[in-house]
Amino acid sequence: MLLVSGGAGFIGSNFVLSTIERTAEPVVNLDLLTYAGNLANLASLRDDPRHVFVRGDICDRALVRRLLAEHRPRAIVHFAAESHVDRSIEGPAEFVRTNVLGTFCLLEEARAYWEGLSGAEREAFRFLHVSTDEVYGSLGEDDAPFTEATPYAPNSPYAASKAAADHFVRAWWRTYGLPTLTTNCSNNYGPYQHPEKLIPLVIVNALAEKALPVYGDGGHVRDWLYVLDHCEALRCVLARGVPGGTYNIGGNAERRNLEVVHAVCAILDELRPRARGSHASLIEFVRDRPGHDRRYAMDGSRLQRELGWQPAESFETGLRKTVRWYLANADWLAQATSGEYRRWIERHYAGRGRA
Ligand code: NAD
Ligand code: TYD
Repeated sequence: MLLVSGGAGFIGSNFVLSTIERTAEPVVNLDLLTYAGNLANLASLRDDPRHVFVRGDICDRALVRRLLAEHRPRAIVHFAAESHVDRSIEGPAEFVRTNVLGTFCLLEEARAYWEGLSGAEREAFRFLHVSTDEVYGSLGEDDAPFTEATPYAPNSPYAASKAAADHFVRAWWRTYGLPTLTTNCSNNYGPYQHPEKLIPLVIVNALAEKALPVYGDGGHVRDWLYVLDHCEALRCVLARGVPGGTYNIGGNAERRNLEVVHAVCAILDELRPRARGSHASLIEFVRDRPGHDRRYAMDGSRLQRELGWQPAESFETGLRKTVRWYLANADWLAQATSGEYRRWIERHYAGRGRA
């Protein structure tokens, strides 16, 4: 049994679905269902006894304690977080609460639970903390990719909150011996991603004939990983990672944002041609994000060398699957882009102007 936090979000729900499908291991899923959590992601598990959903806050220590005592998981896989850089700029407090305090609460309850275990159960227990490449800061065009030894240099409130959480995880290993694992992963994309993020946002706007907002000059570089590859990497680290270890997970797919937007448009042009030329004609350069990191790139060689993992999808195959998924799931998309989403888009993009 795994205790997953944040399993109704983008990566968490992909992890829960693929774990139950591929390994049959049961999951207790603790998620607060913030604007980013969506039970529709888990609809296929509605009558599946291997999935227990609990709506609750990782900061609620009594609840976490009760779930650990009741379900006795062999591991905690910790996804729950505020995850959007733009929202962290607008309102950083929630990022400190969930990402920093929430991780601390989970660590403390995990420690108490683990200390009460004995023998093989204690030996096998793991706390897997899911983190990001953004903790390492920004690279120049010719810099070598981030390794696990790259010093932390977070630039956004989101990255700072994740960096803080990573440090707490490290300290709980070094000080208390809690068998932690930390993964730092590059930008994910794929099914069930909230349409506030670049790739689904471009799909949604292109289908609605709305402008495709590219921040600044569109030359910012991200490394992109298909979400199910990330989930597979996490199961690999959980099974064979060394306690206390940190592992970078990358997609070997560095792309400039403008290239990403053009790639989405090219697939849409093929699958849903527009009457009036390419979707790319909707691209609009808008005011840049403050403190916008120029480039992220991951050196994932440790994971490949030590645990034998590498991504199955290329950016091209993964992106095609992703666009197809959004086209085939219009109901999901309609629900995900109603209510709170509309208010966010209004607030964030109105008055942003052209770059
Ligand atoms: P997401 O925003 O889609 O989902 C986050 C989930 O956490 C939501 O279901 C939300 O309801 C839940 N949550 C938020 N606050 C909570 C709380 N206090 N208690 C319980 N649940 C709470 O995020 P995501 O993109 O799926 O990211 C998951 C994790 O992976 C995060 O820790 C993020 O930092 C990390 N990560 C994301 C990416 C990426 O590209 N999306 C890349 C690397 C690492
Ligand atoms: P995002 O999906 O928000 O992920 P992150 O900021 O965590 O990397 O953004 C990916 C890149 O796309 C990032 O460089 C910001 C840029 N971007 C745009 O150009 N336009 C947009 O509307 C959004 C949401 C992001």
